[in-house]
Amino acid sequence: MGPLTMFEQVEAAASAVRGRCGELPRTAIVLGSGLGDFADTLLDAVSTPYGDLPHWPASTVVGHAGRLVVGTVHGRRVAALAGRAHFYEGHDLSTVVFATRVMARLGVRELILTNAAGGINTSFAQGALMLIDDHINLLGSNPLVGPNDERFGARFPDMSEVYSRRLRGIANQVAAARGITLDHGVYAALHGPSYETPAEIRYLRAIGADAVGMSTVPEAIAARHMDVEVLGISCITNMAAGVLPQPLVHDEVMETARRVRGSFIALLEGIISAL
Ligand code: HPA
Repeated sequence: MGPLTMFEQVEAAASAVRGRCGELPRTAIVLGSGLGDFADTLLDAVSTPYGDLPHWPASTVVGHAGRLVVGTVHGRRVAALAGRAHFYEGHDLSTVVFATRVMARLGVRELILTNAAGGINTSFAQGALMLIDDHINLLGSNPLVGPNDERFGARFPDMSEVYSRRLRGIANQVAAARGITLDHGVYAALHGPSYETPAEIRYLRAIGADAVGMSTVPEAIAARHMDVEVLGISCITNMAAGVLPQPLVHDEVMETARRVRGSFIALLEGIISAL
């Protein structure tokens, strides 16, 4: 027997999840750096370390616990993914989107992608939450590179509305009803892991980016490939390089994410209850 195809690996992980997580999730949420606490708010939860799921990539970053929690929020079954694989860890993008593919094969219809990001738009404050309207892929690659497996989706998927207008509408309504300020803008994804230079940030601003980070775009592309609806939320954990006269440090990213924990969790809960 030859090596398993990506499709077979995804199916193996999906059946492992089916075997242990009770009622299957309809919505999945990827929790970004420092935003993992939401996973602890789920009821009737089954928590599985990524290492216990076949073929699942391990997460090596501080602040990414690396567990799948399937549980209930306002009567709705959801999967919370605390920890994700990043391109900068050395994974192929096909590995980076493994979890996304498993979620889609489990029958998830909406994927909420969250991340920590640097603020390029100077009207943003540190700690702001930004709804992702659209993205710019500057990773230098794409998770769909290579032979296309039609069981996942079409060769040339449309990207004209990656971030669902319907889900953005719901997020805006929930934020307004709960008094949570929600900015919106374009997210640019870079390979990392070094942060950007001030010149790179000026370049990103010139091409229309409002926030910058090192994740989310691969998962969004793979989700659209599999016809899953996507919502993206960035926590602006810091102003991007050169905006303020100070260096960027990962600790600041984690600290800001923890500070907005309350409104972030309230926003997610509200969105899930409105789905
Ligand atoms: N740049 C890139 N990625 C990030 C940043 C940043 O300023 N902050 C959090 N993730």
